[in-house]
Amino acid sequence: MFVLGLQGSPRKGGNTDTFLSAFLDRAAGAGAAVKNIQAAKAGIVPCRGCGYCEKKGTCVITDDPMAMEIYGLIRRADLVVAASPVYFYGISAQLKVLIDRCQTLWSRKYVLKVKDPLASERKGLLFSVAASRGRQLFDGIHLTAKYFFDAIDARMEHAITYRGIEAKGAIRKRENWTADIETAIEKTVIPLVERTRILFVSPRGACRAPMAAAMAQQRFSDHIRTDFAGMEKTAALDEAMVRCVQETGLDLGYRRPQSPEEAFFGLAPDLVVVIGDGPEEDPHPDVENLHWSLPAPLPNDDQSIKALHLQIHANLDQLTKRIR
Ligand SMILES: Cc1cc2nc3c(=O)[nH]c(=O)nc-3n(C[C@H](O)[C@H](O)[C@H](O)COP(=O)(O)O)c2cc1C
Repeated sequence: MFVLGLQGSPRKGGNTDTFLSAFLDRAAGAGAAVKNIQAAKAGIVPCRGCGYCEKKGTCVITDDPMAMEIYGLIRRADLVVAASPVYFYGISAQLKVLIDRCQTLWSRKYVLKVKDPLASERKGLLFSVAASRGRQLFDGIHLTAKYFFDAIDARMEHAITYRGIEAKGAIRKRENWTADIETAIEKTVIPLVERTRILFVSPRGACRAPMAAAMAQQRFSDHIRTDFAGMEKTAALDEAMVRCVQETGLDLGYRRPQSPEEAFFGLAPDLVVVIGDGPEEDPHPDVENLHWSLPAPLPNDDQSIKALHLQIHANLDQLTKRIR
């Protein structure tokens, strides 16, 4: 399981930073892989409102951290924690820049109508602090978080907000803040960490493995977490394969080939499915292996990719019997 924290305060060691870091440490202790994005330092370029993503499904800005890393991290996240102080009754500008760029993921979902394989399981957690105590203090934050989580296909599972927190470090004096973290971990991390991890490996990890991982994730999402890897370094997923799965409604946008070490962010799988020729060196010698001898489809040949799609479906039927 992977937890992505999005830290919206520019104040290092401030209340939001302190809370989110403590939450992520606790999540790592519970067995999750974690990453904390400091939105204020990331250098994300603001959305241009150009409408390119609504036509193409990708952002016209291709050279900033959002395009090069953060979209991909969101697509791989099982839990996204949006953490922001209240700034003028809303999310901080630093985090809002990141959120606005998720218009691209909104477009993929609502214009292209493709579905993230993790859509039915991804969770969202909101954390916020503010100095004053007004009744509507968190209304703006809640609304933005609701529509942000919807765009990234995350179900908002839990929210923690504290009034009357102003000075740097004031959060540490708030009674129950560590107990609140425990409650949030129980609700959002524990159920996801317990799923069986299945790694699909093919020689390049650019066609068969990602296709099988996405299809298996969609099929078994309530109790299985899948990922994919390849043994050779490859720049991008196979375009014809991505197009083919997209026609069936499955979204592989912003996913990239990964090495076995990068899969699951370094967490060990419980089962490895090797597709095609097996790796020369087994990356997980202690883990149970299955072998699927599915031939590689012909390059850019939609017919053979569709045939592969059908074969993977049939193999997943067999796998269902095994993992139940
Ligand atoms: C630009 C700015 C705007 C703020 N706006 C509000 C506000 O509208 N309501 C409020 O209660 N606190 C407001 N605050 C106070 C912060 O929410 C509060 O100090 C919070 O604890 C800061 O969190 P941090 O330590 O994570 O940066 C504002 C602070 C700043 C710097």
